[in-house]
Amino acid sequence: MTVRRERMMAVALLMLAAGSAPAMAETLQQRGEVLARGMCSGCHAIGRTGNSKHPAAPRFRSLDNQTNLAKLSVRLQGGLLTGHEDMPLFRFSRDDADAMVAYIRSIQGP
Ligand code: HEC
Repeated sequence: MTVRRERMMAVALLMLAAGSAPAMAETLQQRGEVLARGMCSGCHAIGRTGNSKHPAAPRFRSLDNQTNLAKLSVRLQGGLLTGHEDMPLFRFSRDDADAMVAYIRSIQGP
């Protein structure tokens, strides 16, 4: 085998590994958690413990008490808006919105 062909095979293997492994390892919930940490954790408590940094922002683990989670995905896609001036306007892709709701559902407290 020539050096050139070996190098091409190595590149092809690298591309395979980079393309498939992370996508398969990440679940919807995990993706939602990453999004929540990046976009929402500045105000909301997004984990199973801890308090929200913004005193008025509900903890994600108790959102079920005040927000219809079945409708939240659609609201996120349309641009989530509350009456609160501190709450920024978000517009999510369908996949990201579903991921966010899957994550929020997964941490709802008792
Ligand atoms: C700058 C601060 C801030 C950030 C960032 C933020 N929120 Fe909020 N959020 C608030 C506050 C304050 C409230 C309470 C608003 C109220 O009840 O009037 C709230 C309320 C909510 C509610 C409950 C009210 C409703 O409309 O159902 C949901 C759901 C929500 N936020 C989702 C999110 C999501 C998802 C993100 C990230 C994509 C996020 N928030 C990021 C401040 C924030």
